Amino acid sequence: MRKLKVAVVGATGVAGQQFLASLSGHPYFEITTLAASPRSAGKTFTQAITSEAGACQWFCAEPLAAEFARMKVLDAAQFDPTTVDLVFAAVESDAARELEPRFARATPVISTASAYRYEEDVPIFIPGVNQSHAELLAVQRKNRDWRGFITPVPNCTTMGMAMTLKPLQAAFGIRQVLMTSLQACSGAGRSPGVVALDIIDNVIPYIPKEEEKVQRETQKILGQIVENRIEPAAFPVSATCTRVPVLEGHTEVVYVSLERPVAIEEVKSAWRQFGADFLALGLPSAPAHLIEVTEDPFRPQPRRDRDAGGGMVTTVGRVRTDPALVNGIKYVLVSHNTKMGAAKGAILVAEYLAQSGHI
Ligand SMILES: NC(=O)c1ccc[n+]([C@@H]2O[C@H](COP(=O)([O-])OP(=O)(O)OC[C@H]3O[C@@H](n4cnc5c(N)ncnc54)[C@H](OP(=O)(O)O)[C@@H]3O)[C@@H](O)[C@H]2O)c1
Repeated sequence: MRKLKVAVVGATGVAGQQFLASLSGHPYFEITTLAASPRSAGKTFTQAITSEAGACQWFCAEPLAAEFARMKVLDAAQFDPTTVDLVFAAVESDAARELEPRFARATPVISTASAYRYEEDVPIFIPGVNQSHAELLAVQRKNRDWRGFITPVPNCTTMGMAMTLKPLQAAFGIRQVLMTSLQACSGAGRSPGVVALDIIDNVIPYIPKEEEKVQRETQKILGQIVENRIEPAAFPVSATCTRVPVLEGHTEVVYVSLERPVAIEEVKSAWRQFGADFLALGLPSAPAHLIEVTEDPFRPQPRRDRDAGGGMVTTVGRVRTDPALVNGIKYVLVSHNTKMGAAKGAILVAEYLAQSGHI
């Protein structure tokens, strides 16, 4: 298959840079356009990520590929989407609301932003969890008379939780979910990002709009398609989202009330077996397992577990019964927020949609 030409919009940001790190040498996709705000337009990528004082603000652990370093960055508002086969968009929600429909009129858009996540004809994909929601893409194209479509990935905090809830929902049924997150600083991006003086030696107990997103998205992702729309899962989800002085990797403490009593070994087994059909597709960015269960009582930890499977694995540990909930279990998870939770998760969606003929 010929490589698809892709644009990364918001390429200079934290999530955008992860697209570059993950797409260098990709077997399906070739970056032909980088775009960002007017601030970066006309500069080379290296110039655009270099501060006035001369500091290069390349965020990723992987080196910046020379082929991207010298590419010119376009103004996203001026970029012609007909020049590419696919757009990866990683801009803040207000900019996404304006830009993404303009791109989608011509070309499929896979987005990390929340702007369109809650619209009736827009699925929120998690690879391996809800591929059946791809049906909505044809509905969206028809409703909006677009050649392309918009499909956002979930909020980075929703990602790990929905991934671990799906096998529980399928095997045991879910009555209710409670979750407290300890979220990494990179999740706030660079503009404005998290100020060091606020977060060092501290925990911030509020992330604006985050809890509502996690609650609503989890129900939508785990919902069913009924008459061209998603009927959200009926169980309530209650979240408290906090920011902690960790660079990458969101930790989440999850309590689930199940529909029936279950042995902890059954829960672990459901997680270990999860996603086999999806993984059998052999997509380039897919890890060997979607969920890893650790028996070490001191894991998962963001520093030690976020990079499991190249940042694509959700690691679960401290799995116990919970005496306070009906048929309760509780666990701790770690999920990489800028990899599976943003760029690499979006690339895995693109690989699936390309292989299944949607792009
Ligand atoms: N960071 C994460 O872990 C994470 C995870 C999941 C989802 N997300 C979502 O991904 C999106 C980007 O987040 P981020 O963390 O990468 O933010 P960021 O580091 O602040 O980067 C923002 C990017 O958007 C560009 N931009 C800003 N205004 C623009 C405009 N009017 N037109 C075109 N481009 C514009 C910026 O370009 P300039 O450099 O030119 O200003 C930059 O490339 C957000 O919607 C966020 O919620 C982030």
